[in-house]
Amino acid sequence: MATNITFHPGSVTSNERTELLGQKGATIWLTGLSASGKSTIACALEQHLLHFKKFAYRLDGDNVRFGLNRDLGFDEKSRNENIRRIGEVSRLFTDAGSITITAFISPYRADRDLARDLHNRSSLPFVEVFVDAPLQVVEDRDPKGLYKKARAGEIKDFTGISAPYEAPESPEIHIRTDEVGVADAVRIIADYLVAKQYIT
Ligand code: PPS
Repeated sequence: MATNITFHPGSVTSNERTELLGQKGATIWLTGLSASGKSTIACALEQHLLHFKKFAYRLDGDNVRFGLNRDLGFDEKSRNENIRRIGEVSRLFTDAGSITITAFISPYRADRDLARDLHNRSSLPFVEVFVDAPLQVVEDRDPKGLYKKARAGEIKDFTGISAPYEAPESPEIHIRTDEVGVADAVRIIADYLVAKQYIT
C-alpha cells in the first residue's frame, strides 16, 4: 500500500467532459461461462457503436491476460485480482467518456459487485449483462476445446466444471444466447443504452 500520495482533481468537471465530448461513458459488463458468447457480442457491439460514431472500447478476458494481467492464473484469488483490475481500468475508460465493454467470465458475484460499487462511487453507469447459455450448450459449442480438456482433467479450476460460476441475481440485461442471435443481442443492449440516455 502506497503512503504519502495525494489525489489531484482535474480542471474539467465530469459534466463539462460529457458536454465537450458529446457523450457520457458507461461500462457494459458482460459476464457468463466460457463460450457463452461474451466476446462475440462484445465485438459486434463495439463495431455497432463505432459505426454510429460513439466512442466505444472493448476489454476482453483472453486479450487482457496477454498483457496487463499476464501474471494471473485461474485460482480464486487470481480471478478476484483479475476482476479488481478490470473494474479499475473500465472505470477509468468510462470516466474518460468511453462506452466500455468488458467481456470476462467474472464468476464471483462479490467481484462484480465491487466493480459496480467502484463505478457507483464515481457516479458512472454500470450495466451488468448476463450472457447466459446452459452448460450443456456451451460444452457442445466448445470452440477452443477447453471443456473437453477440463472434463479430461487436463485443465484445473475450469469454470462450470471444476470451479464455480455465480449467476447474476438481478442483472440490468439478461440474454439467452441459445435463443437470441448476435444481432438481436446487440440491439437489446444498444436499445437499453438509448433508453437510459447513455447514448443518443
Ligand atoms: S475470469 O474468470 O473472469 O478471471 O476469466 P477471464 O479473464 O474472462 O478469462 C477466461 C478465458 O480464459 C480461458 N481459460 C479459462 N476459463 C475458465 N477457466 C479456466 N480454468 C480457464 N483457463 C483458460 C478461456 O479461453 C476463457 O475465455 P472465454 O472467452 O470466456 O471462453
